[in-house]
Amino acid sequence: MRIPTLETKSLLLRPLSVDDAQNAYDRWTSDPDVSRYMMYCTHQSIEETNEWLKYVDINSDVAYDFAVCVKDEDNYLCGSCGVYYIEEDQVFEVGYNIAKDHWRKGYGTEIMQALVKFLINDLHQTAIKGRYEIHNEVSGHVMKKCGFEYVYDEDDYKFDGVTKHECHVLRYNVKGQKKQFELYNGVSFDPVAYGTYKAEPGSVTKALKAGYRYFDTASFYKNEEMVGSELKASGIPREELFIASKIWPDEFGYKETFEAFERSISKLQTDHLDLYLIHWPIAEGDKQWRSRVVDTWNAMSELYKAGKIRAIGVSNFLPHHMKVILDNCEIKPMVDQLELHIGYMQQYAVDFCRANDIHVQAWSPLGRGRLKEDPVITKMANKYLVSPEKLMLRFLNQNDISILPKSNDLARMSDNLDIFGFTIDDYDMSFLLSLPQLGYSGEHPDI
Ligand SMILES: NC(=O)c1ccc[n+]([C@@H]2O[C@H](COP(=O)([O-])OP(=O)(O)OC[C@H]3O[C@@H](n4cnc5c(N)ncnc54)[C@H](OP(=O)(O)O)[C@@H]3O)[C@@H](O)[C@H]2O)c1
Repeated sequence: MRIPTLETKSLLLRPLSVDDAQNAYDRWTSDPDVSRYMMYCTHQSIEETNEWLKYVDINSDVAYDFAVCVKDEDNYLCGSCGVYYIEEDQVFEVGYNIAKDHWRKGYGTEIMQALVKFLINDLHQTAIKGRYEIHNEVSGHVMKKCGFEYVYDEDDYKFDGVTKHECHVLRYNVKGQKKQFELYNGVSFDPVAYGTYKAEPGSVTKALKAGYRYFDTASFYKNEEMVGSELKASGIPREELFIASKIWPDEFGYKETFEAFERSISKLQTDHLDLYLIHWPIAEGDKQWRSRVVDTWNAMSELYKAGKIRAIGVSNFLPHHMKVILDNCEIKPMVDQLELHIGYMQQYAVDFCRANDIHVQAWSPLGRGRLKEDPVITKMANKYLVSPEKLMLRFLNQNDISILPKSNDLARMSDNLDIFGFTIDDYDMSFLLSLPQLGYSGEHPDI
């Protein structure tokens, strides 16, 4: 692609040319403050700058270099900027350099905003890398102001290839579109729910603040009162919320299911549920589980038909459990909530659900912290410039699986919602899907 000229409020960013060498050399080398951080400023002669300008391959599809010119000063060249493809990370990096006499005029922010726009609109990038030397707080401030977020630290070398400097690496988060999921009965819902198991008091309030509207609870969690009272106290209209609860095997039975449902909605301070699930197919050692599941499901179906529940489903049902309902009951489950995360994808159960038009949902999508340090996940997360947690959640989302991450921390809650700004490519999706078993909880409905 031919390098365009970009215009900002005060600047023209035009293609950098070899003719700019003398100006660039004079300005960059004369600035000891910049040269502390910038690799180009270690040039010892005009020849070196000339070489550099040739070396950066000014107009290619891997490096787009711009001269930064001030519109009000007859297009005076006051710096350079560019975007460069980093083969190793498979991502474009942005950078800029302004001569000291033009600092503190907001040019850094204008440049970064223009480059980000260029990368998104013209080069169609979804992830952008930025880096600043850890002591160069001004650069860090500019990047954060432009929407970059800190990801990790790495060492970099100046142009001499020897002088090392420590950098903070940041990522620009291209806000992607989150797609709602839809069940076979037409009920739609957010792809990311707030999982409430072991959530501390106050967490639901924080989750609402972070933007969650779908809450997953269960009678087994013994927190329906807490969830209900925090949702009520928020004043958010009931129709904007999606509330899911679950019935535990010790509540199974036709009559007992109506009672369990009433207990749950009363604690949750609501007159209906958006989703009600059979939490677990079998109470330990129960030889009668099949008839008890059928009785329970038939009662849930009645509540569904009466409009007390908008969708009904199951959890931890493997195909042989699901067949009990499919073979004996009128209504097919709409959801199966299973332990699913990188390293434990239960593909046989997922495929079975898909073949029956049953939506698949992931519990413990982060492996409840067991996958945190995994080097394969960390390495790939670095490639996409995201945290391992975002990679884990996005992976499930791209597999059309809704997710229920739990956190007690507002910043982490927000992070877990913000997973749509990058796309894992097909090769990496296939690689992650085929990893050997990792982080399994050990919880199996038949064992
Ligand atoms: N149907 C079932 O049988 C079943 C079983 C288990 C769970 N569930 C549902 O699934 C939900 C989630 O599962 P889960 O709670 O087992 O595990 P999870 O969501 O996979 O992991 C939760 C753990 O990850 C941490 N965490 C969350 N976000 C993070 C982030 N961005 N960065 C770093 N750490 C982060 C949390 O710590 P902090 O809180 O300190 O952030 C917590 O320790 C449950 O709450 C529940 O609603 C259903």
